[in-house]
Amino acid sequence: MKPKTILDLQRMKSAGEKITVLTAYDYPFARLLDQAGIDVLLVGDSLGSVVAGYDNTLPVTMEEMIYHTRAVVRGTTNALVVADMPFMSYQVDCAAARRNAGRLIKEGGAQAVKLEGGATIAATIAALTAIDIPVVGHIGLTPQSIHRMGGYRVQGREDVQAAQLRADARAVEDAGACAIVLEGIPAALAAEITAELTIPTIGIGAGVACDGQVLVIHDILGLCEKYSPKFVKRYADVAAVISESAQAYINDVKQGTFPDDEHSF
Ligand code: KIV
Repeated sequence: MKPKTILDLQRMKSAGEKITVLTAYDYPFARLLDQAGIDVLLVGDSLGSVVAGYDNTLPVTMEEMIYHTRAVVRGTTNALVVADMPFMSYQVDCAAARRNAGRLIKEGGAQAVKLEGGATIAATIAALTAIDIPVVGHIGLTPQSIHRMGGYRVQGREDVQAAQLRADARAVEDAGACAIVLEGIPAALAAEITAELTIPTIGIGAGVACDGQVLVIHDILGLCEKYSPKFVKRYADVAAVISESAQAYINDVKQGTFPDDEHSF
């Protein structure tokens, strides 16, 4: 299998082939998901919530993103690796955005970066694509805007908001993004945006019409007890497997049945 590039994403949209995306934050998960045939691995700043235990994504730093991106890249052979730009790494000015995006590519080894925002962030997207850093946009329910949104709420339900999201999607495409994440918006609006854009749309809580889908790996494996949005489909209960395995180990050690002859020299 040939390693995926951003050109494959465009080809897949044209061919009507769905694009599969999952988050990954470390080497073993990256290996497993890559071997399973995922198209894109996203080193999401969701790691702030699901790995680091913060309340939201805002505290995540560039150093944390680079550390996790490097681990994911080491475990990946075929998938395209996209790294999130954390809060305040691109909002202040284009120079800082270029420097930080460059670090995710050069030090992290990602092939593209993702940042949140629409028309207001279009100049930054253009500044990054101008220095050959592929950018994935992200509009709708953008977790870094939690305080403006007053929580994680579906966006674009009213006409004015929906029109703004359509304009944001257009601005992100015109600025040169190679794909765009549509998060937490009505399925019908996501379908309209998908039909209107030439770049692929990747949905999360945005219905089936998007060109691809992304979910947080900890959510689909049942590893995140804190928060389970309606759009998450749980494919396994890995938390139960971990907990039962740990209890069995504790029991064996307490009873003196581990290590037995088979596990001793
Ligand atoms: O941080 C993240 O994991 C994301 C996806 C959920 C889209 O941005």
